[in-house]
Amino acid sequence: MDKTRILITGATGYIGRRLKNRLLAHQDYQLRLFVRNKRKVGERARQSVEIVEGDTFNKEKLALALVGIDVAFYLIHSMGADKDFKSLDRTSAENFRNACIAAGVKKIIYLGGLGVKETASKHLLSRIETGEILSARPNDITTIWFRAGVIIGSGSASFEIIRNLAQKLPVMVAPRWVNTKTQPIAVDDVLSYLEESVSLENTGNTVVDIGADIMSFREMMIAAGRVMGLKRFIIPVPILSPRLSSYWLVFITTVPFKMAAILVDGLKSETVQQNDNAALLFPKIKPMSFEHAVQHAIDEIEKDQVVSRWCDSSAGEVCDIIYQDDPSSAIIRDRRMVEFGNVLPDKVFRSALAIGGERGWYKYNVLWRLRGAMDKMVGGYGLTRGRRVSGELRIGDALDFWKVADIKPNKRLLLLAQMKLPGKAWLEFIIEGNMLIQTAHFYPRGILGRLYWYSTLIFHNLVFQDLIEKIVKNAKQAE
Ligand SMILES: NC(=O)c1ccc[n+]([C@@H]2O[C@H](COP(=O)([O-])OP(=O)(O)OC[C@H]3O[C@@H](n4cnc5c(N)ncnc54)[C@H](OP(=O)(O)O)[C@@H]3O)[C@@H](O)[C@H]2O)c1
Repeated sequence: MDKTRILITGATGYIGRRLKNRLLAHQDYQLRLFVRNKRKVGERARQSVEIVEGDTFNKEKLALALVGIDVAFYLIHSMGADKDFKSLDRTSAENFRNACIAAGVKKIIYLGGLGVKETASKHLLSRIETGEILSARPNDITTIWFRAGVIIGSGSASFEIIRNLAQKLPVMVAPRWVNTKTQPIAVDDVLSYLEESVSLENTGNTVVDIGADIMSFREMMIAAGRVMGLKRFIIPVPILSPRLSSYWLVFITTVPFKMAAILVDGLKSETVQQNDNAALLFPKIKPMSFEHAVQHAIDEIEKDQVVSRWCDSSAGEVCDIIYQDDPSSAIIRDRRMVEFGNVLPDKVFRSALAIGGERGWYKYNVLWRLRGAMDKMVGGYGLTRGRRVSGELRIGDALDFWKVADIKPNKRLLLLAQMKLPGKAWLEFIIEGNMLIQTAHFYPRGILGRLYWYSTLIFHNLVFQDLIEKIVKNAKQAE
């Protein structure tokens, strides 16, 4: 029997990574991933999928990716782009639909957001417009357009916010939007719908609204507290503006200002199901309760099994780490070396892979945290982003205010700074013989960049020396 050939776009994003794992379990599916940076795809997955590198603004690459494809998933958005994300989203969707039709693809499956145009935020409007564009030619190509509200799963931005707030604040004075009704859904249920839709017999354009119980954000926080064994009180007040609420979220939770503002904006209007196609077309899927979804997400975090996070993708116009793995353009460097004697290089490398996150940044953690707090105050990620899992890193993983730009097992780990800086910075670890070489590379932007570097020299001397020594010390202890 011929295999169904499936293309996943956005395969390095929050949903796409998980969907890829789900579909890999099907023997009768042949998977192809369309990604902007193929090194972000894990080593194991690379053995079992085809990969085409490119983006939806490159028509040739799109055509190449769609050759022979039966079903194509569209899991892309341009929300992180600094440029006009609406027009990027529009062009991206048009290019994709036209390329699918030209390649004879039978079906496009898209996941967008719940909500109606009249009250939608500008980001949701763009998601709606994307769905309309993808499904605008029903005679030429079949589409299934899923619409989901808040997605609850380990690493999802909404879940991180709810968990952080419920964990940290026994009593919360909250803005009015906490009473807006929404219909959260567990990420596993979202994946089940996407998975089942590959074999769904449908024609034309089918819109499927998905969600579990209707709840307000306030009810979600109280229920999340309950799952964690915490009693929580939320008092809504009319005075907190969306902007103020976003600053508040940045202060308490792991998300940066831009993300918080998008989420708050989205919560100002109701996002509930407008049709019952989910129950009609997928009767076997019974979405789990909110409490169950929260418990499941917490279990994954506790077992160190987080597959993807909200910060996996830059979602910008250009992937955040492609072409960023060469720090040779830097003009200022801080290099330190420590010999590790007869400790196995593998142990030293593992120790380098374990830095940051919950473990912190060793002796001068307080200085690192201070730098993180400063970064958050100016709209950066700060140190609160942490890491996906404790012992392992992959290219594209966020690590506090860094992003993993390159990994060569037992040889090189390169981190790209994503903190707000007057310049560009990397932190590199190289193993040569029995020597660990740690280099902070900096490309200053103008006089301000140089001033920044030289004014932080005294701190660099402390933190960088301590960092390399601790990495080697931990490796020795692990032996
Ligand atoms: N996550 C949620 O809570 C949620 C809720 C409701 C609906 N949805 C919908 O689900 C879909 C997927 O969202 P997500 O959360 O998985 O997004 P995400 O984590 O931000 O990932 C976006 C993906 O798209 C890729 N990408 C962006 N622009 C591209 C382009 N022009 N060409 C090729 N690839 C491009 C990114 O690649 P890089 O890795 O290279 O950056 C990344 O793999 C979206 O339509 C979203 O509206 C998500």
